[in-house]
Amino acid sequence: MVILTSSQPMLWLRQHLVLPFLLYTSLLGGAEQPKCRCLYGDPCWPTQNEFTNLANQLSQPLLRPVPPPSACYPTNMPSGNCSEVVAHYTDGNWRADQPGAMQNTNFESFVFLNGTIDACYLNVSLNIPCEQGNVPPVSVDVRSAEDVQAAVVFAKRHNLRLVVKNTGHDYLGRSAGRGAFMIWTHHLKNMSYDASFTPSGAPRRHSAVEVVTLGAGVQWHEAYTFVSQQNRTIVGGISQGGSVGAAGGWVMGAGHSAFSPTFGLGVDNVVQFTLVLADGTYVTANAFQNVDLFWALRGGGGGTYGVVISTTYRVHPAFSVGLAAISTNFPSYAAALAVVTEWTKLHPTISDAGWGGYTYINQVGQADFQMMFVSPNVSIEEATATFKPLFDIVGNATEGQAVAVVRSYPTFLDWYTAFFTLPGQSQVGGRVELASRLLPKAITMQDPEKVAKILLSLKAGVGINSVGGGAVSKVDPSSTGLNPSWRKALAEVYISETWEEGVSAATIAQARERLKQNTDVIDKLTTDSGSYLNEGSLYEKDFKKSYFGSHYVDLKGVKKKYDPTSLFVVASGVGSEYWDEELKCRL
Ligand SMILES: Cc1cc2nc3c(=O)[nH]c(=O)nc-3n(C[C@H](O)[C@H](O)[C@H](O)COP(=O)(O)OP(=O)(O)OC[C@H]3O[C@@H](n4cnc5c(N)ncnc54)[C@H](O)[C@@H]3O)c2cc1C
Ligand SMILES: *[C@@H]1O[C@H](CO)[C@@H](O)[C@H](O)[C@H]1NC(C)=O
Ligand SMILES: *[C@@H]1O[C@H](CO)[C@@H](O)[C@H](O)[C@H]1NC(C)=O
Ligand SMILES: *[C@@H]1O[C@H](CO)[C@@H](O)[C@H](O)[C@H]1NC(C)=O
Ligand SMILES: *[C@@H]1O[C@H](CO)[C@@H](O)[C@H](O)[C@H]1NC(C)=O
Ligand SMILES: *[C@@H]1O[C@H](CO)[C@@H](O)[C@H](O)[C@H]1NC(C)=O
Ligand SMILES: *[C@@H]1O[C@H](CO)[C@@H](O)[C@H](O)[C@H]1NC(C)=O
Ligand SMILES: *[C@@H]1O[C@H](CO)[C@@H](O)[C@H](O)[C@H]1NC(C)=O
Repeated sequence: MVILTSSQPMLWLRQHLVLPFLLYTSLLGGAEQPKCRCLYGDPCWPTQNEFTNLANQLSQPLLRPVPPPSACYPTNMPSGNCSEVVAHYTDGNWRADQPGAMQNTNFESFVFLNGTIDACYLNVSLNIPCEQGNVPPVSVDVRSAEDVQAAVVFAKRHNLRLVVKNTGHDYLGRSAGRGAFMIWTHHLKNMSYDASFTPSGAPRRHSAVEVVTLGAGVQWHEAYTFVSQQNRTIVGGISQGGSVGAAGGWVMGAGHSAFSPTFGLGVDNVVQFTLVLADGTYVTANAFQNVDLFWALRGGGGGTYGVVISTTYRVHPAFSVGLAAISTNFPSYAAALAVVTEWTKLHPTISDAGWGGYTYINQVGQADFQMMFVSPNVSIEEATATFKPLFDIVGNATEGQAVAVVRSYPTFLDWYTAFFTLPGQSQVGGRVELASRLLPKAITMQDPEKVAKILLSLKAGVGINSVGGGAVSKVDPSSTGLNPSWRKALAEVYISETWEEGVSAATIAQARERLKQNTDVIDKLTTDSGSYLNEGSLYEKDFKKSYFGSHYVDLKGVKKKYDPTSLFVVASGVGSEYWDEELKCRL
């Protein structure tokens, strides 16, 4: 892979963009902008005729998204097939096909300031009426850049709250919005392979790159199948069913993979975006055109700079996958400490050698430990040798009850299919909030036992995505808009909370409080680190620092240049500090 090392975009930004635009906005001010957005139900909401005029410019009829369980409440919502909703409720790909579904159902509901929850629950026995909640009542099912342009111009003219939704996986609820107008990118499914691609605007002698270009609605399972057919691989999201979007929010927020320690993050593999801006223009952003925008789109977050139509990624030669995995219970705290300390000690070496993976440690009730690491082109013998120090400790400490596995798969797709296309396994369809911290490499080297003690002291299960180090650390932090904390991190540590359907806002607030307390515990390790925007909390003390770090000011400069009226606003996004919690009114 080619590692981008140019710091030119940053210099360019500072000299040509940030100052003039601060001046520009302070002269014209935000004063001429309406203070509040026009929501569904407000007198300013577009008339039926105005929507008909919009529909006449589109390739598809307008959609009226509803929360999926509405099919089970036929009296107050449009009817549907309730048994079908029940059967597919936890299927990520089915959910992505529903314009009104978020992957985690809590983001479909809306909580009023007084604690009343507006929602539509699957459990009809709760006897709570089905409401529209946080689901936008109107959506444009875009199939072309022209459809997106018409929708963007309409939203701007009518001062609507615009929401861009792809698959709805977002953990900050950024792809939903009460009373909003939705652009649904799900059906932008083009895929093409180019063995010798030259970014548009590149000088003639620029060497060609091998790429695939993915429409904004393509999902990882589709991209993996397509890229495998070319006998190539691509760095992508790893989840059950592969339903995460391959060219939308995933990459704009970082985009991690177990293969990132070998090939870098999603942002490090993008060669070009095409997108529709707030003024309706359709532009290309790459290392030669709209360079500042290209910089900001790689880490500045989804739903912030425009509507991406396509993402072009570098692809890599096919490889076999070496795997090392452990599954065990801990008979004692001493055993847990020995194992997790050794795991921490090994981590910097294996990450820098290109191993990535996923570990889950659960100290609640019956303690357990599950780990899977993978690396390209590693044989069973090499994998066994690499993990021997950890296997030895695990074998001793857990008194033989551990299961350790070392394997090799001929291709990426063989490995992916073996673990992530399992029927009945699901990661979605429930209620989930997360919080995360990027774990600096330095602390794992200085004091592995401290890391282990803190991970084991969390009063919750903790997940560790080992997706940093190696190639991720070799990229110049200033070459993309991504939070520079990623470049010093070995892993993303995350914790989660869930609750039963139908509970009160107070009960949800308690779950959120536990999440905050556990985050404070992790912060004993990571005082100056960041959090992963795509797997984070809406309740960070300082979202600018946590999610964007020292890049925040420059990211905001680019935002002001390309979206001066703030058409695109998302929770915890760049520029969102000027809006109220509901993202309805400017502060
Ligand atoms: C089960 C599960 C597994 C996951 N696995 C991984 C993983 O392996 N690696 C990883 O890094 N992350 C992972 N994530 C997190 C994932 O990156 C985020 O949920 C991300 O927001 C998904 O992007 P999306 O486009 O699919 O979803 P959406 O929720 O539809 O969109 C997310 C955000 O991007 C914006 N957006 C989407 N498309 C566009 C577009 N075309 N133009 C402009 N803005 C757009 C939306 O407005 C929203 O702000 C996972 C999440 C879940 C729920
Ligand atoms: C409803 O969905 C179920 C489950 O998918 C299916 O078996 C049934 O035929 C559907 N009913 C109707 C009326 O379409
Ligand atoms: C809470 O506020 C909402 C919106 O203003 C209102 O509809 C609802 O009746 C209120 N609930 C209570 C219990 O006051
Ligand atoms: C549905 O709600 C009822 C009433 O509160 C409860 O008894 C039941 O356990 C719930 N069912 C599920 C599947 O959660
Ligand atoms: C998808 O590909 C077709 C055929 O190449 C092309 O005509 C169309 O413009 C593409 N759509 C988008 C949204 O890029
Ligand atoms: C696929 O790529 C691999 C690695 O680059 C190569 O060894 C193999 O021969 C290729 N297979 C085919 C069918 O082209
Ligand atoms: C894996 O091996 C194949 C075939 O030798 C090679 O083409 C490819 O570059 C290797 N990939 C990595 C990451 O080592
Ligand atoms: C495992 O236990 C044996 C026997 O007690 C001991 O000799 C060996 O050093 C231990 N190995 C490790 C890695 O702790």
